[in-house]
Amino acid sequence: MKNAGKLVAKVFETVGPMIKPGVSTYEINEAAERVIYDGGGTCPCKGYYDYPAGTCVSVNDTLIHGIPSKKIILQDGDIVSLDVVACLNGYCADATRTFLVGTCKESVKKLVEVCKNAFFAGIKQAKPGNRVGDISAAIQTYVEASGYHVARDFAGHGIGKNMHEDPSVPNYGNPGSGALLQKGMALAVEPMILEGHAQTRVLGDGWTVKSKDGKLTCHYENTIIITEEGCEIITLTIGEEQING
Ligand code: MF3
Ligand code: CO
Repeated sequence: MKNAGKLVAKVFETVGPMIKPGVSTYEINEAAERVIYDGGGTCPCKGYYDYPAGTCVSVNDTLIHGIPSKKIILQDGDIVSLDVVACLNGYCADATRTFLVGTCKESVKKLVEVCKNAFFAGIKQAKPGNRVGDISAAIQTYVEASGYHVARDFAGHGIGKNMHEDPSVPNYGNPGSGALLQKGMALAVEPMILEGHAQTRVLGDGWTVKSKDGKLTCHYENTIIITEEGCEIITLTIGEEQING
């Protein structure tokens, strides 16, 4: 799984610098898939319930599952999330980053910061003896205290030989509830947050999930492994590993 995690991180390292105004979400996906295939991996999203691409590329009010498209061209001031799952030698890793496109407003930067910080607030609770609800509640508390909302209709998940395994890891909940965390468990923890109301809608393509009110959304995700002491994040990029210390 750690090797799969490194491959996912390599996608962000490679594709991140090409995220600029004028680039289509199709091109972003193509570049991401190339990194995965060149690294000997596979893209379990492709063909998953007929999902047509290897990654999800979601712009602004699209929260998740944006289908890469030549018609969706990034513009200055946009935010775009790239959700990447790679499997390597039978094991999967899953992560998402939201990138700023060109120059973004301070309020947009704050949304992106809060989403990332929500992940780190959540995983402070990720240790043996705690429960999934401790992670969920920490994410929800942090996001709501920051003035945003967590998505209710979608959740993080266990991960391993398959990209989606038990348990579900919601971004809201009560401390002390849910599955017991044990050493060796692997989870995709993924705050999905909204600037306005929490409600979402799915477009006619059956995939694209947008905020109902058209306001901005954000997504940040890593795969973690529960250790003796706490957890290890296996999908950090090289720069992020230094920050995580
Ligand atoms: N990374 C997404 C997740 O955590 C996977 C979506 S892939 C799709 O669930 F195939 F469902 F689009
Ligand atoms: Co996921």
